[in-house]
Amino acid sequence: MPESKSFHMSPEEFRRQGHAVVDWIADYHSRIESFPVLSRVQPGEIRSKLPPNAPEQGEAFDQILGDIERVILRGITHWQSPNFYAYFPANVSGPAILGDLLSSGLGVQGMLWSTSPACTELETHVLDWLVPMLGLPEKFLSTSSAGGGGVIQDTASSASLCALLAARERTTNFASNRKGCDGRLVAYCSTQTHSSIEKAMKIAGMGSDNLRQIEADRNFAMRPDALARQVESDIKAGLIPCFVCATVGTTSSNAIDPVREIARICRDHNLWLHVDAAMSGTAALCPEFRFIHDGVELADSYCFNPHKWMFTNFDCNVFYVADRKHLIQTLSVLPEYLRNQATESGAVIDYRDWHIQLGRRCSTTFASTCVWPSNSPTGCAKTRASNSPRPPSSTSYASGCARQIVRTEIMRTRIMPINS
Ligand SMILES: Cc1ncc(COP(=O)(O)O)c(C=O)c1O
Repeated sequence: MPESKSFHMSPEEFRRQGHAVVDWIADYHSRIESFPVLSRVQPGEIRSKLPPNAPEQGEAFDQILGDIERVILRGITHWQSPNFYAYFPANVSGPAILGDLLSSGLGVQGMLWSTSPACTELETHVLDWLVPMLGLPEKFLSTSSAGGGGVIQDTASSASLCALLAARERTTNFASNRKGCDGRLVAYCSTQTHSSIEKAMKIAGMGSDNLRQIEADRNFAMRPDALARQVESDIKAGLIPCFVCATVGTTSSNAIDPVREIARICRDHNLWLHVDAAMSGTAALCPEFRFIHDGVELADSYCFNPHKWMFTNFDCNVFYVADRKHLIQTLSVLPEYLRNQATESGAVIDYRDWHIQLGRRCSTTFASTCVWPSNSPTGCAKTRASNSPRPPSSTSYASGCARQIVRTEIMRTRIMPINS
């Protein structure tokens, strides 16, 4: 199409503006410490500076960058600032930003293998790389004889919801998918578990009243004896226990639940064990922190958030299952328009069956390109080193987080007994 008739930016204009945007981002990162970390604007202040209606004529891109500088920047809380210590770390990195850009540039859909084979195969391959990098059990590999595998989800909330749905279906032999829940299914977590599990109970139709929040010990870890008692009492009451969420690194205190002991209870009662390592799983990149994954080899599913401190842009959660057939059977619906030869051959992975949505957000689709470049130019050794308590660069935020885990460990073993 002649350029005069196209609604798109010309390739030359895109190149020029793209360079300007990359320059702006590089400058932003080099001056980030000059901004107050917390935005100081008042509610409504940013909106009051925006035009009330969408502009009739498009603006020059330079002008838009000017507005970002003049209007938007003052309303930004600078999560990437080395002085940011709120909520949780959500690191970006140069390679991950460029990976995001490549992903947007390719603009592919990875819902089926056949809608973009490289998208699926890169994701599967990168997630298999991560299994030994984190010292996770081999059953999570896509090539494992157990039939496991990993998928990129947007967030830990989505991953835990998928785990809960698969647990619900395994327990009811897929009847709840057809008929709905009858109010008897029960799930377990601790008083310290992230609120996403309660939300998942609501979305899954199991009801938040059927989530048992098991008491924690003085180190904020779930008490297995209390869990066992509650499961037995629910069975006696005619209820159907089906799912336990154990946490590796709770949001409030980085506490680690005793996964191995919890797994024993799950095995005795045929409960699905999901491990939520959203906050702290990344620490296991360092062999000295692999102890956090003790017992994970007994879990049915596991997730962690590379977007927290593995140099990967938000949003990126990695979710593994030990046996993918339960997940796929839970989430798969096959209308005529999605049928294709590759799917029918059974030789490919179609990630649409591994998560809630059908289509995959462009950068989620190729989020593996973010995980991938953030490891590739960096390399495993450097990624590990930056998470080590004795990193080459003491300013690394990830190393700060690893130190935080060490500090939490010290707090658990020394300070807590004094306070209790
Ligand atoms: C332990 C834990 N689980 C789940 C979540 C939810 O994360 P997401 O925003 O990826 O849903 C968090 C967030 O901080 C968390 O710390």
